[in-house]
Amino acid sequence: MDSRQLGPRLQGQTKRLRGSCDPQSVAVFSLIINLGKTEVEELGASPGHDNTLTIQHTCAAARWAAARGGRAPAGMWKRFSTQLNVQHIQKRRPRSQIQLCAGADECCTRDDNLLAYKRIRLRPRILRDVSVSDTRTTVQGMEISFPVGIAPTAFHCLAWHEGEVATARATEALNTCYITSTYSTCSVEEIVAAAPNGYRWFQLYVYRDRKLSEQIVHRVESLGYKALVLTVDVPYTGKRRNDIRNQFKLPPHLKVKNFDGVFQETAGPEEYGIPANTLDPSISWKDVYWLQSITRLPIIIKGILTKEDSELAVEHGVQGIIVSNHGGRQLDGGPASIDALSEIVDTVQGRIEVYVDGGIRTGSDVLKALALGAKCVFIGRPAVWGLAYKGEEGVREVLQILNDEFRLSMALSGCRNVAEINRNLIQFAKL
Ligand SMILES: Cc1cc2nc3c(=O)[nH]c(=O)nc-3n(C[C@H](O)[C@H](O)[C@H](O)COP(=O)(O)O)c2cc1C
Repeated sequence: MDSRQLGPRLQGQTKRLRGSCDPQSVAVFSLIINLGKTEVEELGASPGHDNTLTIQHTCAAARWAAARGGRAPAGMWKRFSTQLNVQHIQKRRPRSQIQLCAGADECCTRDDNLLAYKRIRLRPRILRDVSVSDTRTTVQGMEISFPVGIAPTAFHCLAWHEGEVATARATEALNTCYITSTYSTCSVEEIVAAAPNGYRWFQLYVYRDRKLSEQIVHRVESLGYKALVLTVDVPYTGKRRNDIRNQFKLPPHLKVKNFDGVFQETAGPEEYGIPANTLDPSISWKDVYWLQSITRLPIIIKGILTKEDSELAVEHGVQGIIVSNHGGRQLDGGPASIDALSEIVDTVQGRIEVYVDGGIRTGSDVLKALALGAKCVFIGRPAVWGLAYKGEEGVREVLQILNDEFRLSMALSGCRNVAEINRNLIQFAKL
């Protein structure tokens, strides 16, 4: 793309949004994907107000509005943007949707995921003819249009009535990777039927009943999923205070569709749509061998944060690692995922692909993660916000704007393609 087209393209993006919905939604949407601070001011936020909180609060306002046909009382945007915190939003939102931003305990790690990106400074190169730029890359040998995929997040039907089907269509349209959560509210069959040409991986937990895990592995393998993402940071569910306070329960009309009919209706305690204690906390490295014995799909381990575990992952023959703290929903006090990335990249030494998720909100965050050695990044909450805002179209917009921002950040730092992004872009003295 000609660099002179970059500005107009971003403007075009905003214009397109302006044409398609009311001005408040446009401003809010711009906020969601962090286009700039002007919109915050437009909404009456006080100068110096914490931008991260503003975005979170305003996203909640956007979801509130989405559930009411895209409109909210005029003063509401301002209130959400300036004063309210998540606790206040809980009072105004249908309970089921509030949980989407929850973190564990004090939310230190969740918040640090974002702040850590803001601490990183770039070393841009100049006069490098960035008139043509190419954001394409590959993951596990498959070409995607840019290095941003969708992390597995549960219960998309809470955000939008079509749920994961809408997410799958959006990622197919943008030609990137969608990691379907085990906790989907649409079945894997429905997802594949809705977006037959989409590139997908399946996120897996290991259950006490191994047969259950085995069945879902065979199902997704025969449906054409291209990799298994084994989430390893949930031996037990983190203490998500908001979810506990709200006694989170899937509403009766929604189900963890992949296991529909598998679990008997039990009177016992339930956790996130399935009976409590279904996940196996005794899961260990030998289960990686077990998983390899039942599938030919590549295995990617999600939830590694140390060099020790990344070395073990390589030794156990997996094909990739997602450096992740589960969006700060598990161990509070662990590192921001971007802060853990370098030691893992250094340990792995290119033997397998390393990806990262957690706190990615702008194109320059993507650039920083790639400069520190990630092959691709994944977004969790932003995709759900897009979904809650406008279903498939909302997810597409989130991805498209991240793509535009990433392309621009690349150009402004002198990179013409993804292969040119490397550690020299990072100002380590500042870290
Ligand atoms: C509402 C929500 C649901 C999630 N559900 C899952 C899940 O089912 N499986 C999983 O491995 N990770 C899950 N995650 C973690 C995400 O895959 C990802 O690690 C995290 O959201 C990335 O951080 P970000 O939201 O700041 O982008 C969930 C995260 C959120 C916020």
